[in-house]
Amino acid sequence: MVKDGRKHLTTDAPATLAVHAGEAPDPTTRAHNLPIFQTATFSFETADEKEAAVDAAAEFTPQAYFYTRVGNPTTDALEAKIAALEGAEGALASSAGMSSVSASLFAHLKAGDHLIVADDLFIGTQMLFEGDFPKRNIEVTSLPITDLAGVQAAIKPNTRVIFAELLSNPWNRVTDIPALAKMAHDAKAILIIDNTFISPAAVRPLSMGADLVLHASTKWISGHGDALGGVVSGSAALLNPIRRLTDWYGGTASPFNSWLIARGTRTLPLRVERATENANKVAAFLEKHEKVEWVRHPSLASHPDRAVAEKLLKGNWGGMLAFKPRGANGDDLGAMRAFSDNLKMCAIAVSLGEVDTLVYPMPKRGGIFRISIGIEAADDIIADFSQALDHVR
Ligand SMILES: Cc1ncc(COP(=O)(O)O)c(C=O)c1O
Repeated sequence: MVKDGRKHLTTDAPATLAVHAGEAPDPTTRAHNLPIFQTATFSFETADEKEAAVDAAAEFTPQAYFYTRVGNPTTDALEAKIAALEGAEGALASSAGMSSVSASLFAHLKAGDHLIVADDLFIGTQMLFEGDFPKRNIEVTSLPITDLAGVQAAIKPNTRVIFAELLSNPWNRVTDIPALAKMAHDAKAILIIDNTFISPAAVRPLSMGADLVLHASTKWISGHGDALGGVVSGSAALLNPIRRLTDWYGGTASPFNSWLIARGTRTLPLRVERATENANKVAAFLEKHEKVEWVRHPSLASHPDRAVAEKLLKGNWGGMLAFKPRGANGDDLGAMRAFSDNLKMCAIAVSLGEVDTLVYPMPKRGGIFRISIGIEAADDIIADFSQALDHVR
């Protein structure tokens, strides 16, 4: 069953891959669980051995270790697990989601290139595009990514990358990956999908035509809110230039964080399934509530991208939702505060994908709440939301 230091798995099931992929007994101690190789460097018997290791590491040869910025066995195990979940040739873990975003784009764009991005994206990614790309002479067109005709019209001869989130942060719009992949490939560009909001337990963007898929593994993949991390998956040909930049920029994952994230990944499918069930119930509750102006979750027939959601997500709607209490708007925080400040169990906090429900007020986005639903009993989340909504006038 264990060959070449790894289990050989014939299944496609995320529940099994999350548990077994990338795992193998440690060959020296037979430790059953993944060890944390908490070491900066690796030592050699001879100068020749060291020379061979440098050369192998420079080519990113699997299991050739020289220095942890270039490669580490704990991080390798995490990468093997995520690659299996994504159905990818390989994966590359990094120090934070933003490291995966920036290194993926910088590796595949150069001065004079054109990038098309969704206008609804995680704010940190938007700030990177607005603040940094112009200085590098990379032209960025930001547009509504669900307007496929608009995307097609924006493509130029120098368009090299289209970048979008499968489920957008925070408006929960659903990106039509197969349609965008076709447009990108017809233009000899690549499609990079940030799937942080849904996770590889539920959907595999590479199988829909995306060239690279990335995540802030800080979120659902880790699941416990105790480590920052990023991971990008795809072909070795597309990953190696990103690996090179992650090494050069020092965006490497720490072995301890890789271990925490690999541990979290083992329960990813279970957690996502439960959070989805809960989110379906919370979304239905909110939609009927008189103090709620609107709620957006792909489980609802009212979702503006419902047809695309059905085609791509197939019921794996995920644990993220957004809603607006009646009377909330960017200038008047009254209705927002009335809800958030009266929560008794759920926390007001940024981030997402943790075991507990997190509520994030976004006054600058028109007074909406981004909600990351946890794995608590659904009735308890609903009871907390219900009593907090009673305070909204
Ligand atoms: C969709 C998305 N992508 C990327 C990131 C960045 O991840 P990190 O905070 O780990 O750098 C986030 C963070 O919230 C996110 O929501």
